[in-house]
Amino acid sequence: MSLELRLDNLFLPEHGIDRAHFDELARDRFPSVHEEIRRQRIEGRLGFYELPDGGDLVDSILQFAEGAGQAFENVVVLGIGGSALGAISLRSALLGPWWNEMSSEEREFYPKLYILDNIDPDTIGPFLRRLDLNSTLFNVVSKSGGTAETAAQFLIVRSMLEAELGDGYRRHLVFTTDSEHGVLRSIAREEGIAALPVPENVGGRFSVLSAVGLLPAALVGIDIAQLLAGARSMRERCDAQMLDGNPAALLASALYLADANLGARIHVMMPYSDRLRDVAFWFRQLWAESLGKGSGEGEPAVGPTPVAALGATDQHSQLQLYAQGPFDKLIVFLTVQQSEEDLEIPAAPGDHDALAYLPGHTLGELLRTEAEATQEALAHGHRPSLAIDFPKMGAHELGEFFMLCQIATVYAGALYGVNPLDQPGVELSKRLVREKLSGP
Ligand code: PA5
Repeated sequence: MSLELRLDNLFLPEHGIDRAHFDELARDRFPSVHEEIRRQRIEGRLGFYELPDGGDLVDSILQFAEGAGQAFENVVVLGIGGSALGAISLRSALLGPWWNEMSSEEREFYPKLYILDNIDPDTIGPFLRRLDLNSTLFNVVSKSGGTAETAAQFLIVRSMLEAELGDGYRRHLVFTTDSEHGVLRSIAREEGIAALPVPENVGGRFSVLSAVGLLPAALVGIDIAQLLAGARSMRERCDAQMLDGNPAALLASALYLADANLGARIHVMMPYSDRLRDVAFWFRQLWAESLGKGSGEGEPAVGPTPVAALGATDQHSQLQLYAQGPFDKLIVFLTVQQSEEDLEIPAAPGDHDALAYLPGHTLGELLRTEAEATQEALAHGHRPSLAIDFPKMGAHELGEFFMLCQIATVYAGALYGVNPLDQPGVELSKRLVREKLSGP
């Protein structure tokens, strides 16, 4: 069973995507988009495509994880942006919300996993004070090696480790960084710290299936072979040249046409699953940083605005806006058809007709029914949506999803006419920070 895309609420008579425009795109534009991406892949520009093939890197990750994983009580990832969001998604989706609260036995002696993706001292200070450094491994993740936030975290942690553990501090660090360049790579060489590579042609937000996501995952016992197998199977589905048989092409085209033809430039990803909540944040970064930019010298800026929401919670927060606000949104529902657990809803005390429809059903049924009802209600109000159904929540399915979204992003880049691999707009603020902190 694989991930399934449902487009039945996309082609609505009013405010929906026009089927004729969709067919036109499939016929007239998609073949050249597909060809362009195929060419870029052959030229080696889209390294994320090849990550599911694993190879030696996966062996080194598994080897390292086997040695280190059960030797430590805690793993702490230091990273930001694309160097953190993949690991956060993997943790939430595959370990569930209470992993760090579980006993060692319940975790089968795999470590707790923390991911520090910000530099707020009010978070970092108390966190580090509570941590037993003797039983902690820090995975410092930075492709460039020089990102201010991650570098600052690292310097603090390194100095604490050295003060507490002396020379043995090195054993408590592993870097994930560019295979050749950058200051982290130099420090790894100079100080003899273990370091795993991020391939040169894999950018941060496309790196979840590299050591960036795989090492933290393997350290806590996530089945990375299944993750990669899922990604491979999705890659194969997306080799299809016909738009209709290619899930990434369908996703990219639907979102692109919503923006370009309907003015629906707010793309909401709304999982009906707590486990997928962080995956929506991962997608938000991928979509925003890849597509929000100028389409060329003197050309207008483009870019949809991705929003992360959560069902059913946000039915009581955002849905009013989605249902009756401006026609400027396309909602992507994520559903999980079979939850790992389910709870039956028992009978109400007394004779309360108002609650009579609930007993006999389960929470899982209620959640899925709410997702279905919301899609129907939106369609009824001429609000288009599409759905991605996960048959269940597992490593294979998550691997499929990551690959689906990454391929959809490079297709969307081609449709919008932008380079999805760069982020020139974030450079100036980085330079200004350096200048401000360097003093006069
Ligand atoms: O997607 C990206 O390229 C960015 O979000 C980076 O991941 C982020 O800026 C962190 O960069 P680095 O991994 O070099 O520390």
